[in-house]
Amino acid sequence: MDRIAAIRALLEDCDQSHVLPDGAQLTDQMLHRLESIEWDSLPALINEHVRTRREGSPANLEPAPHVTVDPEGEGRGVEVLDPAQLQEQGEALLAAGRVAAFAVAGGQGTRLGWHGPKGTFPASPVTGKPLFRLFAEQILAAQKKWGHSIRWYIMTSEANDAATRGFFLDNRCFGLDRRQIMIFPQGMMPALDMRDGKVLLEAPGVPAMSPDGHGGSLKALQRSGALDQMEGRGVDVISYFQVDNPLVQIFDPIFLGLHVDAGHSSGEFTSKMASKLRSDEKVGVFALRDGKPGVVEYSDLSSEELEAVDTSGRLLFRAGNLATHAIGTSFVRRVAGEAPLPWHRADKKVACISPATGQLIHPEEPNAVKLERFVFDAMALAKKPAILEVDRDAHFAPIKNAEGEDSPASSNQLQSDLYGSWLEEAGVKIPRRSDGHVDAVIEISPTTAMTPQDLDSGQLPDAVEPGESLAL
Ligand code: UTP
Repeated sequence: MDRIAAIRALLEDCDQSHVLPDGAQLTDQMLHRLESIEWDSLPALINEHVRTRREGSPANLEPAPHVTVDPEGEGRGVEVLDPAQLQEQGEALLAAGRVAAFAVAGGQGTRLGWHGPKGTFPASPVTGKPLFRLFAEQILAAQKKWGHSIRWYIMTSEANDAATRGFFLDNRCFGLDRRQIMIFPQGMMPALDMRDGKVLLEAPGVPAMSPDGHGGSLKALQRSGALDQMEGRGVDVISYFQVDNPLVQIFDPIFLGLHVDAGHSSGEFTSKMASKLRSDEKVGVFALRDGKPGVVEYSDLSSEELEAVDTSGRLLFRAGNLATHAIGTSFVRRVAGEAPLPWHRADKKVACISPATGQLIHPEEPNAVKLERFVFDAMALAKKPAILEVDRDAHFAPIKNAEGEDSPASSNQLQSDLYGSWLEEAGVKIPRRSDGHVDAVIEISPTTAMTPQDLDSGQLPDAVEPGESLAL
């Protein structure tokens, strides 16, 4: 059977023959895209996510246990671990070259509305360094500290892979060696018509596709050969982070030390959490669902669950997911191979050709079901996942929206606040407004200091003036 006939047979079997109308002209690229779709898994997915819909908040929800290195945790009933011991374990891991950086950057970034890949967004408050440069500078600083090259893996999507590669080449990989960086695209899923589950088309023979979620990263690590490469080079811990957080600490010894602490973690999946700021903050929380650990989306919690408090008066479901994980390579291999993650439904507007007129339409209301996998669903498959409570201000300044919460403006303020506090620790006088925020624009490159202790007080000013911009 030739390739076109094989695809036609598959389409017929899963009731999607409209994808390839008689006489449709197929280029090799179009054929390749059609062949990349797992058609035989579609009917079951359509049944589960389009024809029927599981709704409502999950039953038997409890907060997920976590640990902290904050001595005050004891008063809150949280197990307090010795930071020095974890730090030592994490440093040993880093010194042995067992950690690789992994950025997931395949998202569409629709809320921010930036014209290029999100990693190219100017994110530092004074000099406007792009996110990718900020991460590269962390890698450069870590290499200097640990004395060896560190591998960086970046997951893109079909839509932004070429632009991402171009950006790295145009910027000479920000001073890193090209060979230490591996960029690979994630999997794609066809968008489905909300009404009947038919695959939506951009053109005859061309399904409308979208990235398969950050959970697709586990399979993509395997398929791309990244996992083989890591293991071949003695890397067994993946420091996973999102492309939208300029304050992510990619090489956090305490966190990595917890990941390999056999008493508290199976070395498979370890996450960072910070308490939610408000009950209605739109962030997923770590919780046990029917005893299994994972993240429950904000929209899946009832208003009672959102508002519920514990005996100390704190929000019961407060453990906000910072989307920073340490993941074991052998665990990724297991999940990618034998234990695929579940799919989640999102209703979206997807431009497609109308079956009636054959014309391209841009819907004003959601018309499509997109299916995505979430990386944190892997937690439930780990023998002993661990969650570390961290100081949110030192770890998290996400850029999601064009304005308001989690926007470039709020991220800039959070970065200035953090770096202002570092300078205060070093004895510099920092202006603050009545609301407590730093009244200056400050950034510190990771190549200058990874922690406040790295700052050289001899090189610092005595004071920063209100409204001043300072980049170190
Ligand atoms: P978000 O959930 O913020 O989604 O992704 P997004 O697509 O970037 O942005 P919106 O929702 O369209 O505005 C969180 C992280 O996961 C990555 C993103 O690049 C970001 O780092 N991601 C998300 C992927 O790598 N692939 C995906 O399919 C989805």
